[in-house]
Amino acid sequence: MRLTFLLFVTAPLVLGGREVGNRQEGPNETQLTVKDIGDFADVSFGNLKRSVSATRPRCKSFPGDPSWPRASEWARLNKTLEGALLQPLPPASVCYRTSPNFNTEACDFLLRNASRTSFYLDDPLTILTQWPQGNTCLLSQDPAGNCTQGGFPIYVVNATSVKHVQAAVNFARNKNVRLVVKNTGHDSSGRSTGAGALSVWTHYLKGFEFLPEYKQPGGNYHGPAARAGAGLQVWEAFRHAEQYNITLPAASCLTVGSYGGWITGGGHSPLSSKFGLGVDQVLSLQVVTADGRYVTANPKTNEDLFFALRGGGGSTYGIVTSAIVKAHPQINLTIASFSFTLGSTTSTTPGPSVTVSDAETFWKGFNEVFAFGIPTVDAGGYLWTNGNPARGSTNYQMQVQVQMPGLTPAETADFVQPLLRTLNTLGIPVAIATPTTRVYSSQAGSTGGAPGNGYFASRLFPRAVFENATLFSAAMSAARATVEAGYVFHGLNMAPTLRAAGHPTARAGVNPVWREAVMHADVFTGVNMGTLTPAEGREAQRRLDGYMTALRAATPGGGAYFNEADVLEPDWQRSFFGSNYGALAWVKRSRDPWHVFWSPTTPGSEAWAVEKAPGDELPTQNGRLCRV
Ligand SMILES: Cc1cc2nc3c(=O)[nH]c(=O)nc-3n(C[C@H](O)[C@H](O)[C@H](O)COP(=O)(O)OP(=O)(O)OC[C@H]3O[C@@H](n4cnc5c(N)ncnc54)[C@H](O)[C@@H]3O)c2cc1C
Ligand SMILES: *[C@@H]1O[C@H](CO)[C@@H](O)[C@H](O)[C@H]1NC(C)=O
Ligand SMILES: *[C@@H]1O[C@H](CO)[C@@H](O)[C@H](O)[C@H]1NC(C)=O
Ligand SMILES: *[C@@H]1O[C@H](CO)[C@@H](O)[C@H](O)[C@H]1NC(C)=O
Ligand SMILES: *[C@@H]1O[C@H](CO)[C@@H](O)[C@H](O)[C@H]1NC(C)=O
Ligand SMILES: *[C@@H]1O[C@H](CO)[C@@H](O)[C@H](O)[C@H]1NC(C)=O
Ligand SMILES: *[C@@H]1O[C@H](CO)[C@@H](O)[C@H](O)[C@H]1NC(C)=O
Ligand SMILES: *[C@@H]1O[C@H](CO)[C@@H](O)[C@H](O)[C@H]1NC(C)=O
Ligand SMILES: *[C@@H]1O[C@H](CO)[C@@H](O)[C@H](O)[C@H]1NC(C)=O
Repeated sequence: MRLTFLLFVTAPLVLGGREVGNRQEGPNETQLTVKDIGDFADVSFGNLKRSVSATRPRCKSFPGDPSWPRASEWARLNKTLEGALLQPLPPASVCYRTSPNFNTEACDFLLRNASRTSFYLDDPLTILTQWPQGNTCLLSQDPAGNCTQGGFPIYVVNATSVKHVQAAVNFARNKNVRLVVKNTGHDSSGRSTGAGALSVWTHYLKGFEFLPEYKQPGGNYHGPAARAGAGLQVWEAFRHAEQYNITLPAASCLTVGSYGGWITGGGHSPLSSKFGLGVDQVLSLQVVTADGRYVTANPKTNEDLFFALRGGGGSTYGIVTSAIVKAHPQINLTIASFSFTLGSTTSTTPGPSVTVSDAETFWKGFNEVFAFGIPTVDAGGYLWTNGNPARGSTNYQMQVQVQMPGLTPAETADFVQPLLRTLNTLGIPVAIATPTTRVYSSQAGSTGGAPGNGYFASRLFPRAVFENATLFSAAMSAARATVEAGYVFHGLNMAPTLRAAGHPTARAGVNPVWREAVMHADVFTGVNMGTLTPAEGREAQRRLDGYMTALRAATPGGGAYFNEADVLEPDWQRSFFGSNYGALAWVKRSRDPWHVFWSPTTPGSEAWAVEKAPGDELPTQNGRLCRV
């Protein structure tokens, strides 16, 4: 890949990316050199062959420990980092009178306007699900208590080059400091935060380069591709895709990171039945490994990393700095939507939003929608549904979107007719308006967001469950029970088969259950974990898990999507990684014997645990990381 880079180069050349002739700015590949290290041994590289040290401290060094790096050492690291080391306070600290940065105006901005801006996505600490950071320093007009750092890291490297990532990894390894990796902070299990940690913040590892003709080393892909910085969010990748008239499959939420957690944890999209998962987009990766080295991983070189980094979890084997991914031809996404609600009367006129008064009719309709998941995925589509619980004056509601890549509105309307006829026959008078269509990559919307504090669990449903009437009926009863118990049952029918993936020559670490799955469903609680006591929070998890136990029993051979799951999923090794678990744990052992990288429920993570803070019930990141 360095070769490709050099071949394209014409004067003037600025090494490490940027404008080169007319070329687009690529990711900055400047590396840490022997000269940069000089006599600062704390940032020197590791040696895998001599990794096992005689003294193995039980815990990672923690602020206040004699072993915690001195201020002068942090300052020296900052020099190597060219000033990119931050020591941030949690954003809502401005609302706390005892904080050094107390500021009512800044607090007012957070309370009223921040969620509509990219403020939180551009914040070095914020994670979008709060309870894993220990519910510390929550936003409030007039908060009680003081703002503490809680489960947030102490130092953050605002990385803009490979060199920054290497220096951070080396320093953390040499000084026994906990290391975390944060891109956007969308992970809901606390994998992008950690108390007493040094964080590598990949958000500004941007850069993008279109490669019209790319041949995957050792693989079977030959065609258009793109080289993308690990920090690009969906909305940014889409703007590049629009510019080159290509399609880059991505998460439905525009602020998720396209080339961090999404590709390393699985990655589903409305195009999954057509182009496979996020892991299937990846042709080659640039990675900083636990020894601090900068390597390429593809089917030809470092195959073990290439396997593990495609679905075996982020924050485990190395830090991806950029990815070469498939660039598909431009495609439209066409969506037909409707909903039906259980109400006091049955609608007399057909329409896209109707009510029915008979509960059993409603639930029969619920089942029929899911049964339509099979024809949808077999036609390359994505069936998006929300089974909403009764709340306030609204009774149960089923929201449906049939999302069809590559079909016109007329074709999509025809495609949905059989489902509409079935529902009409049942007595649900739904009809659809003309489906909407847009160029997939033209999607625009909010590039902001704000932290929330929900909790959810998930399940992957194998095709076999949908093709056996007895199993299907049991699975639907278990799904219905979640809605009746007050949860949102959010179904996403898709089939990211190996065929959709283009029959890649190199096996991916992602749970093989995904290849046989026809639905990934999230089950959301309505609780706000920030308003519950820790004991109540744990009780909410237990109650949800009771319904998940029934769903698991009704979906034999299934699993759960690592990236969107309950961090307390029982038997998580098998649920999240299936038959790949052993191989992934082996890659972890051989690539990171130091345990530089750690985050919950990743392969090999059993060897360590975060010590619980007093009163903690759920597994937060608000504590010291120690060997078990
Ligand atoms: C609102 C919302 C919508 C979502 N929609 C979808 C969806 O449509 N499809 C889907 O598949 N998922 C979806 N997700 C889940 C999402 O894919 C995961 O949360 C994913 O892990 C986010 O990755 P990130 O890099 O943006 O976030 P982060 O939380 O910053 O990172 C996630 C994990 O990856 C690690 N990581 C990040 N970057 C790197 C890197 N460069 N190298 C190594 N490790 C890294 C982090 O350490 C962490 O463990 C959604 C989540 C939310 C909150
Ligand atoms: C790192 O150096 C930069 C530039 O000199 C400075 O602005 C920043 O505050 C330093 N970071 C820390 C944590 O001291
Ligand atoms: C901030 O939010 C307030 C209240 O929601 C609104 O009235 C105001 O217009 C917003 N200001 C800006 C700059 O968006
Ligand atoms: C908050 O901080 C102040 C000043 O630092 C301290 O006096 C006080 O005891 C703290 N309050 C709590 C609840 O910890
Ligand atoms: C991080 O670095 C980027 C790129 O240099 C810069 O734009 C941004 O302001 C920095 N963020 C913080 C919080 O320092
Ligand atoms: C690339 O990264 C190096 C090392 O961090 C930095 O010195 C250089 O200025 C960066 N180049 C560009 C063009 O941003
Ligand atoms: C974009 O790609 C599509 C699909 O390949 C093609 O039909 C269309 O003509 C292209 N548009 C432009 C402006 O090149
Ligand atoms: C694709 O969507 C665009 C709107 O974004 C529309 O103009 C175009 O006609 C659509 N193409 C097809 C083939 O439906
Ligand atoms: C359907 O599944 C049930 C339960 O596992 C099994 O007993 C039955 O044989 C299956 N039916 C068919 C037709 O495969």
